[in-house]
Amino acid sequence: KYEGNEARRTEEKRQCTASESVLNTWPRLYDKAFPHFKEPAEIGFFSYDEKRQYQRDRSQLRVFAPPDDRNTCNFDLRKGYSKMIKKDETVQTHLDGILHWIMKNKELLLVTPNKNLDKTEITKKELFHRHKYDFVCWRGLLTRLLCVPYENQEDLLVAVIYFRGTYYMCEFDTETKKKQKEKTTPKQEEMCAWGFKFEQYVTADKTGAVPNAELPVNTNAEFGSIVCSRLANHSLMFGAEVDCEDVNCKNGNNYVELKTSRIIESQRQYENFCRFKLLKWWAQSYVLGIPSIVCGFRDDNGVVKKLEDYSVSKIPRLVQAALKNPWRPTVCFNFLNEFLQFVKTNVTETSDRCVYVFKWQPGSPVTYQRHSKDTEFHFLPEWFFNWDAW
Ligand code: A3P
Ligand code: MG
Ligand code: MG
Repeated sequence: KYEGNEARRTEEKRQCTASESVLNTWPRLYDKAFPHFKEPAEIGFFSYDEKRQYQRDRSQLRVFAPPDDRNTCNFDLRKGYSKMIKKDETVQTHLDGILHWIMKNKELLLVTPNKNLDKTEITKKELFHRHKYDFVCWRGLLTRLLCVPYENQEDLLVAVIYFRGTYYMCEFDTETKKKQKEKTTPKQEEMCAWGFKFEQYVTADKTGAVPNAELPVNTNAEFGSIVCSRLANHSLMFGAEVDCEDVNCKNGNNYVELKTSRIIESQRQYENFCRFKLLKWWAQSYVLGIPSIVCGFRDDNGVVKKLEDYSVSKIPRLVQAALKNPWRPTVCFNFLNEFLQFVKTNVTETSDRCVYVFKWQPGSPVTYQRHSKDTEFHFLPEWFFNWDAW
């Protein structure tokens, strides 16, 4: 199998050497059969506690605890805002949570050679120098990539480093995003925190406990799941922040994604909700194998009035029924597949010191540039390259 993988990689590279150095993002190019996507399987987890200390446990996984009547809620998302403890956003954490997990579980990344294979065919060096997964990144990046064919606002910047057979990918803020952040008003900032307050109203810290919205929200606390999956020829390992679990849900993955959204009052608002929000929500949950999303619909004063459940697998049909020209899941996944292939084809420099930066803005194709050692995009810490020493 190991040898087969090698041959496959070489063939993939050969076939693609003739292809262009840009990648188009038009939906019609990707409207073909759905590529094989393996159900994501959890291989690990971690928590960040209230002080942002990394923990090798599930201590920060919250439990879904909805109110009995989901139609008559009154959750004030502005409550206690002044006491909120915010995670330090000025620190660029890149892939840190994932790298930390890898450090503690490094044997899980090593390739196990096929026993029947003639040992002399694999040199010891190769065995220990090629890792199992083609790609390592955060789920958030996969969500963004899945939505690219339909995105017409936000541009994208992804840095890629090739290390021991794995493409490490990290999203960076674009110049536009940085400017937007600088312009954020206090009111907008407060509204960005509403989603976290909502999480507090509908989750508890353990099974059987009740939510406590009197406590200040602390965004340092987080639970992260590490999963592996495969999309066509690409094996993936990615990390994702998970909102909570539903202990009553017994089929497979019982994680739940929580969202808030403005109460929908017109057909036009409903169509926008389907075209833009449901696409992002679907992509974010589907890629992690999360079966359901619970949305708290709020008014302009930040008061959630009712909860609505969305079955992730049913979202595409819901959207199809609502829109004339709906987004299509197959376009999202075919594009992601091609993007990953584009990375494999063009990231050829194996030096740890080399970073490839992929850029995209709506209306243009994806392009890339190679950067040498001293660049702000060098997101893998020095200790990580000393793999054999830890
Ligand atoms: P909402 O989902 O209710 O908008 P997530 O839903 O991905 O678990 O994120 C939790 C909350 O973080 C969001 O709640 C929102 O308040 C905030 N958030 C997430 N992504 C954001 C972004 N790009 N900009 C601003 N706030 C964001
Ligand atoms: Mg979340
Ligand atoms: Mg959420």
